[in-house]
Amino acid sequence: MKINLYNTKQEVAINFSDYLSKLIKQNKTVHIALSGGSTPKIVFEELASNFSDKVDWSGVHLYWGDERCVAPTDSESNYKMTVDYLISKINIPQENIHRIKGEEVPSKEAIRYSEVLVKELPQENNVPKFDLVILGMGDDGHTASIFPHEINLWDSKNICEVAIHPDSGQKRISLTGTVINNAETVAFLVTGEGKKEKVDVIINKKGDYKQYPASLVAPKSNNLIWFLDTAAAEEIKKE
Ligand code: 6PG
Repeated sequence: MKINLYNTKQEVAINFSDYLSKLIKQNKTVHIALSGGSTPKIVFEELASNFSDKVDWSGVHLYWGDERCVAPTDSESNYKMTVDYLISKINIPQENIHRIKGEEVPSKEAIRYSEVLVKELPQENNVPKFDLVILGMGDDGHTASIFPHEINLWDSKNICEVAIHPDSGQKRISLTGTVINNAETVAFLVTGEGKKEKVDVIINKKGDYKQYPASLVAPKSNNLIWFLDTAAAEEIKKE
């Protein structure tokens, strides 16, 4: 595990964008699963402002780690957020965008999207293999859309599952641990004070850490990178 620590959210975005642009330059084709949330949003803004013409996006394939079951035009849609902040501002072929269709019947879409991943991605251990999975972590320790109350979904043998947000009841489609932990690299983008306790408990394996889905992120490749700002890392820095 590697921990990259930066002073601010903005610095996390700048350094992660730099990391991503190098990964893209080194590989002809790169398959990346994106996340929703506020940290990816500023990363997308940074990529769009400073890397749109520095990167050849034609070999980049974009997927999502999770999606809310809403229309692609809905303000809650992770796809819409990515279009607004990144996709509409870079030169990427339309056929490289592999979105989860939040408007479809969730159980059917989870199966269809699993098939998309099987078709598009190289396989290892008989499971599709992403070059990079980008994850956020919620204040409650959830990641992708696997929440603590449904932590068993993490170990599903399926590639995708239908999850339910604990407060709103909103259905979501999420990748499972089976495919997330099969990625070449997993990057956690976690910023803000609200995350400091869970970051500490999970990274330092304290107490009941195993009840948080984010603690189960452990790629077989061992390439797990945390991009944290000092607010999120406050508790681990004390040690
Ligand atoms: C989603 C996410 C989710 C998110 C975390 C962190 O669609 O809701 O993929 O897992 O990454 O909730 O979000 P923030 O970056 O806003 O803290």
